[in-house]
Amino acid sequence: METILKTENLCKYYGKGENEVRAVRSADIAIKQGEFTAIVGKSGSGKSTLLHLLGGLDYPTSGKVWVKDKDIFSMKEEELAVFRRRNIGFVFQAFNLVSSVNVWENIVLPIGLDGREADVGFAEDIIKTLGMEHKIHNLPNTLSGGQQQRVAIARALASRPAIILADEPTGNLDSKTSDEVVTLLKASSQKYGQTVVMITHDEDIAQIADRILSIEDGRVVEQG
Ligand SMILES: Nc1ncnc2c1ncn2[C@@H]1O[C@H](COP(=O)(O)OP(=O)(O)O)[C@@H](O)[C@H]1O
Ligand SMILES: [Mg+2]
Repeated sequence: METILKTENLCKYYGKGENEVRAVRSADIAIKQGEFTAIVGKSGSGKSTLLHLLGGLDYPTSGKVWVKDKDIFSMKEEELAVFRRRNIGFVFQAFNLVSSVNVWENIVLPIGLDGREADVGFAEDIIKTLGMEHKIHNLPNTLSGGQQQRVAIARALASRPAIILADEPTGNLDSKTSDEVVTLLKASSQKYGQTVVMITHDEDIAQIADRILSIEDGRVVEQG
């Protein structure tokens, strides 16, 4: 399979002198198309910083990130914003749904905002795969946390991004719901051949991945 995401000597340092924090140090990562990768590490190990760099939400101190052979930090800011919208789907711990519109609109809205037409059949299929077909007319505040996160996952999948980046997607959920949500994320990514990088502090949750990387004090290594 083709490499879809790659980093080279990627570093992110915060602060200066004795206050310097080396949040990500010399990360060399290659992720293949369709792979479900977990990056596991303790709180403060650099997980969110790394994910933000992979998604072009933050600039590195040095090093490079390629998404689909595109050196993302060589782009101008606006070009990067468009590239990100089209190619990267995010799922965060806080579900970040739009509270004033229903589930269906939450899922197709970003595609419309990007000036594209939603593939209605595909969106409906995703919603079924995630078991949310009975809730499409609901407002987010009438859903449980697990249901809200399933909507956020559907929204990310619906625009067919090159890669989905998930930062502690089960961080606000109890352990039973976490298992359900991550199982659905895995099942849907498999069904659609979707590349996923999921960050978690939870070793058990990470076990569902095809591949596990670990991060400790900003250093990323292959696990087992
Ligand atoms: N904007 C920032 N300014 C300064 N230090 C930061 C900033 N963001 C993160 N850090 C530091 O970088 C390290 C890694 O943070 P983070 O990537 O959020 O870790 P994780 O997501 O694994 O908990 C921590 O020591 C954190 O305090
Ligand atoms: Mg974090």
